[in-house]
Amino acid sequence: MPVGGEAREALVRELNELSLSLRGQQLATKVAHWNVKGENFLEIHELFDRVASHLEEGVDLLAERAVQLGGGARGTTAEVAAVWEVPGGGSPSESAPERTASKWIGWVVDGLRKVTARLYSGIELAARSGDPVTADLLTELARRADKDLWFLSAHLEAAE
Ligand SMILES: [Fe+2]
Repeated sequence: MPVGGEAREALVRELNELSLSLRGQQLATKVAHWNVKGENFLEIHELFDRVASHLEEGVDLLAERAVQLGGGARGTTAEVAAVWEVPGGGSPSESAPERTASKWIGWVVDGLRKVTARLYSGIELAARSGDPVTADLLTELARRADKDLWFLSAHLEAAE
């Protein structure tokens, strides 16, 4: 294991924050998956589900990496709520019947952009800490999030 001491602790903290952020966004994406309706329903409904599964896989990889680095993995609902705030706040589910598909997509895109920005800073931290394996894991997750953002944004453009 190449990383030791304070650098390792900082990396474990970062991995946990990322894992909790991805979990928060995974839950939000499921809310969008359930509530979306309208034109291209099936495609968007399924796209949201794929994005949610990618995030869920990421949660698992990040939490397990934190443990591999000698730390503890966090993941309770309280821990997620302490780290992750849904963009725009509140629960859009209350106004779900009136929400358009573009609004749901925009909401998921905002959250996923926030997750991606955090992954990018995690990559820098891992690289600075001399841990190319963690940097590679985060890069893979960021690459996937970027691709999902591309798919989602393409739907938004089509809806405009
Ligand atoms: Fe479903």
